[in-house]
Order: sequence, then C-alpha cells, then structure tokens
Amino acid sequence: MLVNMQGKDVISTQELELNEIKALLKLAHKMKDNRYGDEYNTLLKDKTFIMFFYNPSLRTRISFEAAATELGGHAQFLQPKTMRLKQTKGGVEVQAGETIEDAAKVLDRYASGMGIRILETAVENYGEGNALIREYAKWMDAPVINMAGDKYHPCQGLSDVMGMEQHKGNPKGKTLLMTWGHGNLARSYCSVIENMQISSRLGMNVRLAHPKGYDLPQDEIAKVKKNCQANGMNFELTNDPDEGYENVDFVYSRNWFGPDFYEIGKEAEIERASKMTDWICNEERMKRTNEGLFIHPMPVDRGKEVTDEVASGPRSIMVDIAENRLHTQKSIMAMTMAGKKIEV
Ligand code: CP
Repeated sequence: MLVNMQGKDVISTQELELNEIKALLKLAHKMKDNRYGDEYNTLLKDKTFIMFFYNPSLRTRISFEAAATELGGHAQFLQPKTMRLKQTKGGVEVQAGETIEDAAKVLDRYASGMGIRILETAVENYGEGNALIREYAKWMDAPVINMAGDKYHPCQGLSDVMGMEQHKGNPKGKTLLMTWGHGNLARSYCSVIENMQISSRLGMNVRLAHPKGYDLPQDEIAKVKKNCQANGMNFELTNDPDEGYENVDFVYSRNWFGPDFYEIGKEAEIERASKMTDWICNEERMKRTNEGLFIHPMPVDRGKEVTDEVASGPRSIMVDIAENRLHTQKSIMAMTMAGKKIEV
C-alpha cells in the first residue's frame, strides 16, 4: 500500500480519504509492533515539529514529543503567551503584535510540521478554534496537525479505532454506543464527534445516547449518518440512559456540554449536568453488551462518566488507546513530514 500524504494537513479524519485513514492505521500498528526498529527511527532526522498549545494536555503533549524523538526528530513546545500575536478587543488593538499570516510564514521556515491545540475554553464561539487551525494551515506549506480543536480531534479518533482493532479485529459491522455521561467538567465534544465520524467511516453501526437538550452539532451528526448509510450500517438515537447498551461491542461514555454552553457558561452547565446521575456507564449496564469494551479518550471523570469498577476493570481499553496516541501520531508525522512516500 503506497499512499502519498506528504505535506497534507490533518484537521479531521472525515476530510481524509478512506485509503489514507487505513494507511495511517496500518502504519501505526506496524510502528507499535516494531517500536524502536531501524525502519522508522530516522524518518524525521534533523526535523522539528512545533507543538502549539492554547490549552493544557497530558497525553497529547507527551505522546507527540515522544513520537518525534522515536522518529529521530525533535518536538518544540510553543504557547500563545510566549508569542507576540496580535490581540484585539472590540476592534481595538490591545497589544502590538503580528498577524497569524506573519507568524505562520515564519514558523514554516523553521519547522517540518506544526500541531495546534485550541479547545472551547480558549475561544468565545464554537468553531473559532477550528478556524484558527485552518488559518495557520492556509499560510504554511508544512503540514498542520490538529492536536484537538473545538470541533475535531483526529489523533484521538485514529487511536480509538486502533484500540478497537487491537481488541476486536476489523471494526466493520460492529456497534459503538456513544453515550453522554454526567459530570462536573463541562467537556467539549471534539473527541465524541471525531470518534463517531471515523467509526462510521470504517463501517460501524453507531448508537448515540444523550439526555434531551444535549444534541450535538447537527451538521456533524449528518456526516455520521451519511457514513453509516454509505456502508449499509445503522445510526440510532435514544434519550434513555439505559437502553443503548444492548449487544453493543464498544461503549464510549463521555460528558459533553449542551449546545447553549457558549451562552450560559461553565458554572450553569455543570449545575445542570451534575444532577443527571443516572447517566453513567456501570458494570450492570456493561453486562448487557456483546462482551463490550469500554473506551474513553481520557482524562476520565471516574464516578461520573463511568464507575471505577468499569474504568479499572478487564473490559476497559482506555489506557491502550492512550498509548496508541504515540503510535498513530508517529504514523501521521511519518506520512506527512518525512519527505518521502512510506510503503505500508
Ligand atoms: N485525550 C487527550 O487529548 O488528552 P490530553 O488532553 O491529556 O492531551
């Protein structure tokens, strides 16, 4: 399999070709099986990857840095507060600085690729983080990798699917339950959307469960439905916390905020969501699955999204998935930054 992704931005998996997704996953498995092998450890020799973070991270930062090291390159950490980006308030410039165009063009001269993380708490309106990532991508020739924006999280989606493949083989025809979980964190849904889009793309049935009022962006759900339809699979929606578990292969229980989050704010969202305690993945519910596995992007809100018993139990594969971040990101960096086509 020879797929040319050199220089390609990775902003959401839905925007990748199916053969690109398959090649990225195949290479990630090979890289996991031969982690320190000579085949891969010089692919980024002398190359720098910039990790530009508007928001905190454990997995993404450390796994990208380790990925660059294992490919023979270097990852450099960057935060907006250490830059001179132009800032305006009400149309008035409040800090002398430079435009994204200028910053991006300069960074492009130094690095072979750049990752950007900008989540909901760093923006005022849904979609602004995604727009910023695309603005950098517009001005850079080097690939821009989305390290979690307010809309998508492609590295997480690839790692989720890699974990599903490791434990249950080809995901085609299997069923995913994506269920809302209560909690005190008011979380964004970039990982949730990403997972449903890549799962449906690869031929899975998707069952979505959430309380009334917690609808996800309908344009993104429309893509999931279209993916399911194209593969002859089912998309189902329920507002019941219990009924979705029947015979599913994977359970992804995750809190996400309601569509009015950007108006009502975090405190009001938490006040509302923390009361719906019946929305939790527990052992009793897991027993009704098809020997279902628990998946989660982490950090996990134990006792709220999922019980400790399930999160630490034998059916939880969330730590394997967290490990996969390293392998899928090595695969992405090699495929987009190595400067040569990679046979997989
Ligand atoms: N899943 C994920 O992106 O984790 P971090 O926020 O720790 O990077």
